[in-house]
Formats: sequence, C-alpha cells, structure tokens
Amino acid sequence: MKQAFDSRIEQAISLRQQQGLLRRTQAIGDGNHRKFALNGERFINFSSNDYLGLAASEELALAYQQAIAKYGSGSGASPLVTGYSTSHANLDSALSEWLGYDNAIFFSSGFAANQALLFSLLEKGDLLLQDRLNHASLMEAGMLSPATMKRYRHGDLSHLASLFVPSTPTFAVTESVFSMDGDIAPVDEFIQQCQLANVMTMVDDAHGIGVLGDDGLGALSQCQRKPDILVVTFGKAFGLNGAAVLCSKAMSEYLTQFARHYIYSTAFSAAHASALLTALTMIQTQVWRREKLSELGAMFREGVAHLPAYVETQTPIKPWVMGDEVNTLALCSELKSNGIWTTAIRPPTVAKDTARLRITLSATHTSSDISALVNCLEESAKELPCQKR
Ligand SMILES: Cc1ncc(COP(=O)(O)O)c(C=O)c1O
Repeated sequence: MKQAFDSRIEQAISLRQQQGLLRRTQAIGDGNHRKFALNGERFINFSSNDYLGLAASEELALAYQQAIAKYGSGSGASPLVTGYSTSHANLDSALSEWLGYDNAIFFSSGFAANQALLFSLLEKGDLLLQDRLNHASLMEAGMLSPATMKRYRHGDLSHLASLFVPSTPTFAVTESVFSMDGDIAPVDEFIQQCQLANVMTMVDDAHGIGVLGDDGLGALSQCQRKPDILVVTFGKAFGLNGAAVLCSKAMSEYLTQFARHYIYSTAFSAAHASALLTALTMIQTQVWRREKLSELGAMFREGVAHLPAYVETQTPIKPWVMGDEVNTLALCSELKSNGIWTTAIRPPTVAKDTARLRITLSATHTSSDISALVNCLEESAKELPCQKR
C-alpha cells in the first residue's frame, strides 16, 4: 500500500515544521568559501569545516585540475574491480607512513568508513562502548550492529572503565575533537585504559587531523600511544572529501574482505587520490595555516571571553552556547543581517538547554573577519541574554 508511505512522509514533515525543526539546503552562490553569496547578499562563512583553508586553495585546485587532465575524472569502478590506482596506493603509503600504521583503506566518506568498520567487525555477544557525544555515524552503526552498545558519560574514563566486562570482546570508540563542543578527548588515557583491559580502540580524528599539533598529526600529536584503528576524514582540514581507516595489515585485509561500503561502492577517482596527496603535503609543510588559525583563535578569545555564552576551546570549533533555542535562532539571524554566517544547533543534535551557534574558524579568515564577528556578538549580547546552565 503506497498510501502508507505517502501519509508517513507527509506527517513526518509537517511535525518537523510544527516543531520549527525543518531542515533545508541553501544553494550557496559564488565565493571562495571564506565569503559566499546567497540571494544577492554576501556572508563571511563561520560555518565550514575547512579549518586550514585548503578547500579554497588555488594550489590544491590546480593540482586537482592537473590530476584530472592526467587520469580523467572518475574511477569507473569499486576498489576491488578496477577503481584502485597507483595514486590510491601512493596515498595509502604516504598516510600510513605519516600516521604510523600498516595500511589505509579508503572510503567515499567518514560516515561510510565508520559504518563499514562497526558493521564488519562487531558480532553478537560483543560489547561496544562509545562516548555519548560520538558522531551520528558511529551511534547509528552501533545501534544497528549485533553487539551490545553502551554509551559512557562524555570524556569520563572512570565511567568507561566501569562498563568493561571481563572476557567479553570489547571495542571502545571516541572522537578526538568533538564536533559540536570543540573539546578534545583524553585520547592517550583512553587508549591506556583500554589497553590495560585488553579492549580494542578506535579514534575518529575527523576534526583533529591536520589541525592538532605543530605538525598537524591530529589526535596522535596528543598521545604517546596509538589506537588500534584511526579514522581520518578528508572533508575537513584536507579540504576535499572521503575518508581513510588506518589500521594493521590484518585489519586492512579483513576490511577488504568484509567491509561492504568498501567492496560494493565506487572508489573515489585517481585524480581525487592525487589531490589528497597534495593536500597531505600542504598539511605537513604549510605550518603557517595552523599558526594563523591559532592567532585568529586568540583574537576571538580576547574579544569575547568575557561574555557568558563563550566556551574556551583549544580547537577552531567555538561553540557559542545560548541555552535557549529561541534566543539562539534570534542571534543567528542577527548575525546574518550583519553579513555573518553561523549555524544554530538545537536539540536533539545537542542536549536540552544547550542550544548554540557552532562557530568555526578557518585559516582563510582575516583579522577583520574576526573583529566583525566579535563586534556583532558583543552588541547582540546586550539584547539577547545567554541562558546557559
Ligand atoms: C566526528 C565525525 N566523524 C565522521 C563524520 C562524517 O564524515 P564525512 O563528512 O566525511 O561523512 C563527521 C562529519 O561531520 C564527524 O564530525
């Protein structure tokens, strides 16, 4: 009965509408990521994850164009058919060597990588432990997997340890930098604790790679130890898209046999792999991008740290926690009317009473962009109270 689906769709959308939670795409016009046009207005973009400014980089765009001219634009097949090229193999070697793993297995997105890993690895009777603020891709895969999933309190390693069950195959997963809060997980202690209990570890370094550490090594720059599995995504600091799972030889062999998102999905192209290799070199050598990011972060802190919605972070993710959803949306529109684009994040994406603007900085921002943001936040704070708890 097709009508059942029609009415389900209609009801779900109208409920979203009534709750004021309807999501919409907006077609961003011309611009260079730092600034874009929408409906004839121009905005400074404080919403993207292009932390190092590579998505807008002419150097990277040129390398991509040259690679397309050489290899063509598509891969034409999944990796195990004919979609895996020498460019992929070169990227695998460079990434694995840099991060200290045997192999990198590539996926079309971080979402696919996380799902593929959990689905292929977990069996009934296993225990999956996740930080309760882990990304939707990890949570969803955990819930749908045959394992028992438990969530530990955010960053609370004693709680994590209390959930260990002796003699049960256990897999523990954390993000390195939490995408909505910008805080950094105690990754080294997480790994140490899991190693002591013989628990397998995975760190999702989507927001850390390229950004954390003088060398951009991400989560690993904060650690003496390495997780068994490291996931890095290419849609943030790398300025492109896709993801890699860094792991041991045995694990890469296993994923090649059993990770369905890998086996049954078209590989990203050789040109894309080649552009990713250029992005990797830029991340490794263009230290100025991280320095600029930290200067902009210091400027932001100096301008607004006295305001109650401010939250201190060591990353380019600067949550502006208003608490109340109505005031968060009002602040978001106020900033828009001043040419500043941020994203309002509301429950259920974040906990009740912690509605916020997710403000992100990029190495392409200028000091006048930060001044404009700071001035607007300062002015708005006079009219829109923060009700953070
Ligand atoms: C922590 C984390 N992991 C994974 C993903 C998914 O990555 P992708 O955008 O490449 O699908 C995201 C996306 O924002 C993320 O924040």
